[in-house]
Amino acid sequence: MDTRTRLRALAAATLLGWAAVAGAQEPGPLSSYDPPLPDSFAERLRNADLARGEQLFMRKCSSCHDQEKEGGHGKGPHLWNVLGRRAGSIAGFEFSEAMRNSGHTWSFATLNYYLTRTDRAVPGLAMEFRGLRREKDRADLIGYLRTRNDNPPPLP
Ligand code: HEC
Repeated sequence: MDTRTRLRALAAATLLGWAAVAGAQEPGPLSSYDPPLPDSFAERLRNADLARGEQLFMRKCSSCHDQEKEGGHGKGPHLWNVLGRRAGSIAGFEFSEAMRNSGHTWSFATLNYYLTRTDRAVPGLAMEFRGLRREKDRADLIGYLRTRNDNPPPLP
């Protein structure tokens, strides 16, 4: 290979590499997209206002979800221990096929992405709640949900 051919091959490989990176980062359904944990979100999570998170939970989620250890399923599944759980897997609740097959595990990153826009994260889901637009709301709420767990995962 002469220098020119080599350079051309290198340029092509670089372009292909970028295309692959761009493709992998295209936000889409959690079944094929592994969302990052944005630094800004991690920072807010470390400083989460848990009392505010609880209020948000009561206002926005508690009509369908129970988050207490001794609780159970309502219109939505029991959310005790949700962090670390595989999506759509808890026994005794009839999930949509979309949620059962989405294949991800609930982490800070997937919950944050899900609660930003639920129908983008799990198209065809059965949860009638569109999402929380503000990052601070999601961080306070997820910070609070972290405490509803037998083994709260370490903060990022
Ligand atoms: C109107 C009822 C309703 C509201 C309000 C609601 N949810 Fe849900 N949620 C559901 C239903 C129903 C499902 C099951 C979805 C499916 O199977 O597609 C669900 C599923 C979930 C799951 C997946 C659980 C698992 O085990 O995989 C999470 C996490 C969740 N909701 C969090 C929340 C949070 C946090 C809020 C408040 C910001 C909220 N939901 C508000 C009804 C609701």
